[in-house]
Amino acid sequence: MQEHNILVVDDEKNILKVVSLTLRDSGYSVDIAQSAEEALEKFRLRAYNLIVTDLKLPGKSGAELLTEVKSLQPDFPVIMITAFGTIENAVEAMKRGAFNYLTKPVNPDELLTVVREALEKFELKRENQALKSELRQKYTFSNIIGKSTAMQEVFDTIRMVSKTQSNVLIIGESGTGKELAARAVHYDSDRAGGPFVTVDCATIPSGLMESELFGHEKGSFTGAHEKKTGLVEHADTGTLFFDEIGDLDPNLQKKLLRFLQEREILRVGGSSRIKINVRIVAATNRDLEQEVLAKRFREDLYYRLNVVTIRMPPLRERNDDILLLAHHFLERMNAVEGKLIKGFEDNVMDLLLSYGWPGNVRELENVVERAYVLCPNIAITKKYLPPKLLGPAGDERETFDEMNLLETEKRLIIKALNNTSWNQSKAAEVLGITRKQLRTKMVNLGLLPDAESIKKPVES
Ligand SMILES: Nc1ncnc2c1ncn2[C@@H]1O[C@H](COP(=O)(O)OP(=O)(O)OP(=O)(O)O)[C@@H](O)[C@H]1O
Ligand SMILES: [Mg+2]
Repeated sequence: MQEHNILVVDDEKNILKVVSLTLRDSGYSVDIAQSAEEALEKFRLRAYNLIVTDLKLPGKSGAELLTEVKSLQPDFPVIMITAFGTIENAVEAMKRGAFNYLTKPVNPDELLTVVREALEKFELKRENQALKSELRQKYTFSNIIGKSTAMQEVFDTIRMVSKTQSNVLIIGESGTGKELAARAVHYDSDRAGGPFVTVDCATIPSGLMESELFGHEKGSFTGAHEKKTGLVEHADTGTLFFDEIGDLDPNLQKKLLRFLQEREILRVGGSSRIKINVRIVAATNRDLEQEVLAKRFREDLYYRLNVVTIRMPPLRERNDDILLLAHHFLERMNAVEGKLIKGFEDNVMDLLLSYGWPGNVRELENVVERAYVLCPNIAITKKYLPPKLLGPAGDERETFDEMNLLETEKRLIIKALNNTSWNQSKAAEVLGITRKQLRTKMVNLGLLPDAESIKKPVES
């Protein structure tokens, strides 16, 4: 977890002390200021994540502090502390953008809960905004999104190859964006005005493939009632994309090779050759070199196709892209469906990052779309993720949050105290902490009144 800096503002020393001790004890880094003026000076010098301020201060009030902070950073979270009887003022402050308010005497549990909420909301907002602006900036290339080094290299290769006439082979696991890359090669080239035609080698039956590819003359075979223009001819002046090239049948591999050498086609049953000007892009999720070794794929064709290789990295090798892509898909859903979901809760982002994504970007796309449809909240919560993302420890994770840690700590301390007849020194020894630490914890957990606040009752 990253360190959080909190600025606590109060002119009453005992409140400053209780609040800052409670926060420090929970691992926050705390600065203090005794007036709004001092707070503003510190605020300008150091990056804080949160301000906790008394409403009533000697010079400028806490409300004025709030207004000035908001004018510098509109989203910055500020928590107000207010004396009983001045709650109207606190409500007024809420209307002006305070995150929440606490009443005196400050209850440590309540303080920690509100602080945690404020930090989480703010973090979520900031992270989501940062991702959104990144998306708009440099991380999109021809509908492909990626800021990882691996994807930036893919973009560079596409930019380079698109300026040439070379054939391109795109390899990568299923769902890594091979088709997107093929389109990018086309739309980034000077062929962009020409057609982009896909030949789906996995689904066109091999018996029909030749006439699908090269066309046929009327009456050239039974059922050829009309003359037909093939896909290769359709792609003239543009790009011809052979998807799943590893599935192309050996006979057609030979015919394709011939076309690549001669750049001419002969329709089935035809007699005149037609010159065709296309760039070939092929994609496969098979290991083509392995296929060549196993004699299932022609070596000569492999070398013809593989002038430039673009390898689409699996998603698990580019963690930097996961959240960016997730946000992209969320934004797209927002635009299409009209519902507004602003982002993902922190723990959802953690889960997205730790999952292995065997189905790559396509799987992430499905996960986000499903969560979008099911989730009624402003941010996607864990509940709407498929179980596979939660992992084996999914349920334990939930019960072991900080709230429960505090509860557990309280129970252990009470038990130690009971076993030692509330002798603090002995209890501290049992717990393995100093007596001073024990007392601080007892104050924070409400087991012991703060000594100072008893001597000097809180006024406001
Ligand atoms: N980098 C990316 N940015 C945005 N969308 C992406 C990206 N990569 C993949 N997608 C999306 O994921 C889905 C799968 O991409 P695509 O069809 O290009 O993958 P593929 O590698 O061709 O998969 P397959 O091998 O299964 O055919 C598509 O909806 C595509 O728009
Ligand atoms: Mg594909």
